[in-house]
Amino acid sequence: MGNKRIFGLDRIVFYGRTYPEYLAIFGFDEENLADKIILDCCAGASSFTETAHKKGMNVTALDPLYGLDPLTISSVGETDVEHVMEKLADSKDQFNWEYYGSMEERKRLARSALLEFSEGYPEGALKGRYVNGELPVLPFRDNHFDLAICAHFLFTYSDRFEYRFILASTLELMRVTKERVLIYPLLGTDGAEYVDLARLRADLANKGVETSTKRTRFSFQKGANLVLELNE
Ligand SMILES: C[S@@+](CC[C@H](N)C(=O)[O-])C[C@H]1O[C@@H](n2cnc3c(N)ncnc32)[C@H](O)[C@@H]1O
Repeated sequence: MGNKRIFGLDRIVFYGRTYPEYLAIFGFDEENLADKIILDCCAGASSFTETAHKKGMNVTALDPLYGLDPLTISSVGETDVEHVMEKLADSKDQFNWEYYGSMEERKRLARSALLEFSEGYPEGALKGRYVNGELPVLPFRDNHFDLAICAHFLFTYSDRFEYRFILASTLELMRVTKERVLIYPLLGTDGAEYVDLARLRADLANKGVETSTKRTRFSFQKGANLVLELNE
């Protein structure tokens, strides 16, 4: 039957998607983002922040690796693109290929995200666009952001985290955010929905946080067609 884990990734990869991929995942309408103060938490090598910055938008990216020097962080990103592509080649049938079309296109986008991120990182780090930090404690004041997004981290790697880390992380994202927090996907690398999702939603409700799911048309990982939205 093969390996149950979709990827069997060795580690939490420093990988990232492009701005158009983020728009597709979260179903964002660019115009609605223009006046928002946005946090991309667990942003990795995504170029969302860089492209958004060039468009005049106010986005801050956070990742524990943002303390690294530019050459080292690019090199980690290169290694992880290769790692992800190797694992993907072993499990192609567990993904929908409508969006990307081919492995080559998927890799091209990953490399273009890394390149754009790497070009903007030195100045962006100096200007505070790339912030070193990690969940479950974020270095931002209460309600600093209008919107926080968290892609391919919290539930993706949930098999490595205790429930209390996930609960604390969602509450922390809410603490720094005024309007809404969006988390995607709701599945782990094994393709199954996060096992404690109902418990998490109940605990959040008890703390005054409303949760809802909305469908996304972007579903690269099979079955990953929901975004979790949190608001007060
Ligand atoms: C797969 S990348 C996701 C990148 C991006 N959000 C995307 O969807 O393209 C996951 C990122 O989570 C970061 N990470 C690991 N532990 C973290 C933590 N405790 N808090 C925040 N980010 C963390 C990793 O360094 C890595 O860059």
